[in-house]
Amino acid sequence: MVGLSHLPMRRLLRGYTPEGAKLLWPTEMLNSRRLPNELVGKTLETLRDTQEEGLVPQILGNEECFIHASVKKLLDWGACGIDINMGCPVQKALRHNYGVALMGDPDYARKVVGMTVKASHLPVSVKLRSGHERDMDFLVRFIEGLIEEGAAWLTIHPRLASEGRRGKARWEELRQLRRVIRVPLIGNGDVQTSEDVLTMLEGTHCDMVMVGRALTARPWLLWQIGEDFGWPAPVGRVGERAPRTAREEGAESERALNYLLIQFRELYPEALGVRRFQFFIRTSMPWLTFGQSLLGPINSSRSYDHLQMALDHFFSFDQEMMLKTDLRS
Ligand SMILES: Cc1cc2nc3c(=O)[nH]c(=O)nc-3n(C[C@H](O)[C@H](O)[C@H](O)COP(=O)(O)O)c2cc1C
Repeated sequence: MVGLSHLPMRRLLRGYTPEGAKLLWPTEMLNSRRLPNELVGKTLETLRDTQEEGLVPQILGNEECFIHASVKKLLDWGACGIDINMGCPVQKALRHNYGVALMGDPDYARKVVGMTVKASHLPVSVKLRSGHERDMDFLVRFIEGLIEEGAAWLTIHPRLASEGRRGKARWEELRQLRRVIRVPLIGNGDVQTSEDVLTMLEGTHCDMVMVGRALTARPWLLWQIGEDFGWPAPVGRVGERAPRTAREEGAESERALNYLLIQFRELYPEALGVRRFQFFIRTSMPWLTFGQSLLGPINSSRSYDHLQMALDHFFSFDQEMMLKTDLRS
């Protein structure tokens, strides 16, 4: 997720991952026209820790030469798969005919998968939406085309391009697709709690679940899910229980945000790190009962020290977290 799926976030999440659990870790979407000229591994979007496993960088693109050059670089960087973005609805992506624009051109979309598959031995996945119109037959045919070209799995966010993140994700579509699609399917959209994860898995029979926005507020969701499945605690947290009550989650939020700020200080130049931290808070804040009052001081901060002061002040009062919130579009 642009501005969110970065190394500080992955480090934060790793601290909450049940010991031994295997996850797929996407990156922010990476423009395949730019990657060939970039120092992959040194840019902010591609910083990684050496011990990281399961990295599946997401690329945006539609031209063979750029895709090939990008995949080669990502292979050397340590990718264990390549994800193609066919869901991004922003104007820039539409203008360049990638992102969800590819869903308007099924023949070309499958060629993009084919050219990515040819570029390396890595598995190739696609992240897509329901399309441009509600048409299940079209969607099934579209997906079958991607699979014929070698797509190894799919992540589906069941909203139309025009819907952005408005309204509710239609999990029912995931259920219908799961019945007819022959590769693993990852369901996505509006998952906020461990119960939501179980409901999505049981209700749709998807093979995995992708959580987006809610993980910024509740990174310990991974720990909660692990507990519900009977998995081991995260490393260093053996003997502890995952935070569950509103008060426990409020207290954990303080620890998580402080940890994140330390990571930003270590990894990002100050001006950029401050902007990224502000963006992170804007995404995660709706789950905090009084999150609105954190926003002003965070947004007006111009340095890491200011951000720290804003956090310290906010958490000098006991904070609580809501289980669910109206997800903003
Ligand atoms: C700030 C932001 C950036 C996003 N960037 C990407 C992206 O780079 N690639 C992508 O496939 N989806 C991206 N998405 C969409 C999410 O992956 C996800 O499909 C959507 O937020 C719905 O899932 P959620 O309800 O769990 O957040 C982004 C969403 C947000 C809020």
